[in-house]
Amino acid sequence: MSHHPSDPELFGLLAREADRQANTISLIASENHCSAAVREACASVLTDKYAEGYPGARYYGGCEVADQVERLAQERALQLFPGMAHANVQAHSGTSANLAVLEALAGRGGRIVGMKLSAGGHLSHGYPMSHTGKLYAAEHYGVDPESGLLRYDEVREVVQRHRPQVVIAGASSYPRAIDFATMRGIADEVGALLLADIAHPAGLIASGEMPSPVGYADVVTMTTHKTLRGPRGGLILTTADCQKKIDGSVFPGGQGGPLMHQIAAKAVAFGEALTPAFRSYAAAVRTNAAHLAECLAEQGLKIVTGGTDSHMVVVDLRGLDVTGADVEKRGLAAGLTINKNMVPGDPLSPRVTSGIRVGTAAPTTRGMDLDAMTEISALLVALIREPDPEALRPRVQRLCDAFPIPGIG
Ligand SMILES: Cc1ncc(COP(=O)(O)O)c(C=O)c1O
Repeated sequence: MSHHPSDPELFGLLAREADRQANTISLIASENHCSAAVREACASVLTDKYAEGYPGARYYGGCEVADQVERLAQERALQLFPGMAHANVQAHSGTSANLAVLEALAGRGGRIVGMKLSAGGHLSHGYPMSHTGKLYAAEHYGVDPESGLLRYDEVREVVQRHRPQVVIAGASSYPRAIDFATMRGIADEVGALLLADIAHPAGLIASGEMPSPVGYADVVTMTTHKTLRGPRGGLILTTADCQKKIDGSVFPGGQGGPLMHQIAAKAVAFGEALTPAFRSYAAAVRTNAAHLAECLAEQGLKIVTGGTDSHMVVVDLRGLDVTGADVEKRGLAAGLTINKNMVPGDPLSPRVTSGIRVGTAAPTTRGMDLDAMTEISALLVALIREPDPEALRPRVQRLCDAFPIPGIG
């Protein structure tokens, strides 16, 4: 990245960030490296354009190109998830998408049911610190503390008791596929709508690598920047019945002008995700994660749920005399970016935790293969067992040099 003469201070920082990304490995399950084409669209002239409203019905003039860009993003989104009737590509983020959907479907003071944060749920599923936990009466279901797996009987019990307008299926830290058919059945028993939040596995679901909520969920929300490998942003898919309410809830309900440059970048990413190359990528993300989980288990680590169906592996560190926060810190010194994570039944606080969550979406974008995963598993085990992370730095650097980030180097 070049230093822009107009602002060496800021562009110097951007160059430092590019350098950091190139010379460390992101194992953060919610991160990825988007393509140069996606970045180019993010930085395009559309950042200057106001386009309040929707294609064909804007509150500003000069939206001819913006209309075509937004329609292209919508069409491609629906091609990625065939069976949904409508795509709203304007949500600024995953959280704004969920807020808009809950406001439309649960309504002020409505009742919602989602997964507990401590079990792997997301803040925007009714956690007290989120607006969603203040605006709606939220109840939560957990996972089995031993197996780490969702207990659908418990979901049913919570839903029957709370009788929500909206049941949320989806998580930030659940490595397994969710049974959307069963969740639909549970929602139907109380006449609730089903929101599937597939922020994490979106790219894997779009590629057919994981089961899809389409056909079961009334509304599907996701982020576009995780396994979908697009720009930072949100995407909402709806049935025909929910379309109008959801669109109104996004704009004018919760947002003003859409970020047209981000929408252009979403269109690029959706186009990329429709290609056979992306399908191969998504398959490799899963194979890499499964291999990483196996290697870690072989070396004696406890893997939450015993493995993974997705891009994500959660490691339970209890009994190892090290916390998630310790491993996160050691990782930074070694050049591995990891995040600490609660494990089911975690006795420690979210700032400390007894676990780590790692993901293969970003390393697989760099072309890392099974051998690279074997090496990463050895590095993780060393980080956990030996508090000398600097000694591991040269091994991390060798991987970074062998697998440069496309478009960054
Ligand atoms: C399940 C889930 N929903 C929503 C979000 C929120 O996305 P954003 O950070 O774009 O608001 C996340 C982000 O991690 C997530 O994991």
